Amino acid sequence: MELKQAIYKRRSVSKFDPEGTIRPGDLEKIMEAATMAPSSYNMQHWHFLVIEDRERKMQLKNIALEQEKVADAAAVIVVFGNLQAHRQAKRFTDDLVAKGYLDVAEQTIALDIINEYYADPAHQQIEAVRNASLAAMILMLAAHDLGYGTCPMAGFDANKLCKTFQVPDHLVPILLIPVGRPAEEERPRKTRKQVTEVVTYNGF
Ligand SMILES: Cc1cc2nc3c(=O)[nH]c(=O)nc-3n(C[C@H](O)[C@H](O)[C@H](O)COP(=O)(O)O)c2cc1C
Repeated sequence: MELKQAIYKRRSVSKFDPEGTIRPGDLEKIMEAATMAPSSYNMQHWHFLVIEDRERKMQLKNIALEQEKVADAAAVIVVFGNLQAHRQAKRFTDDLVAKGYLDVAEQTIALDIINEYYADPAHQQIEAVRNASLAAMILMLAAHDLGYGTCPMAGFDANKLCKTFQVPDHLVPILLIPVGRPAEEERPRKTRKQVTEVVTYNGF
């Protein structure tokens, strides 16, 4: 499928077929695609919890304002942002040096910048959200490409989710993404703002 088609045809699915399944290997393909997202200094501030187990999905449904799609989708992927991704800055900037993206002097400067910037918890938070969200979008396009429906969902109780699934402190839940077989016809695109409403060239 062409990227353009995936971008224009994707919809947030309202209803999933509870009998829908995911073909063996497809979840792995979707998750691998998500890891191809760009990230700041390639630090990959994301983690994914894949929930396929019926009982666990029912727990998640309760956490997600009883939204049916969480129970009906074949799998629900919780996308987390990693507040501590910068701790692996050396690992990934070493790779940048090895591959010629940075020289050693530039790496030293980069590591100083990273350490100073990420010392602020507000920056850890915004980078977790920013970087993980990019992975979430790729995940949805990859799922669509394989013929599955998805829906990004922020309607859930983050504290309850972390407690129920014993989420480590350094991970913050960003989105739930149910993946499965849609139980609805393709719907018309919801109205988007005019491009001229949302694009400004060369400064405000
Ligand atoms: C951050 C975010 C949170 C959302 N949360 C929910 C949600 O909790 N439940 C839901 O049904 N849809 C949710 N949506 C889906 C939006 O309603 C949907 O993306 C929007 O109406 C546009 O429709 P489209 O994705 O089909 O173009 C969310 C979307 C985003 C981006």
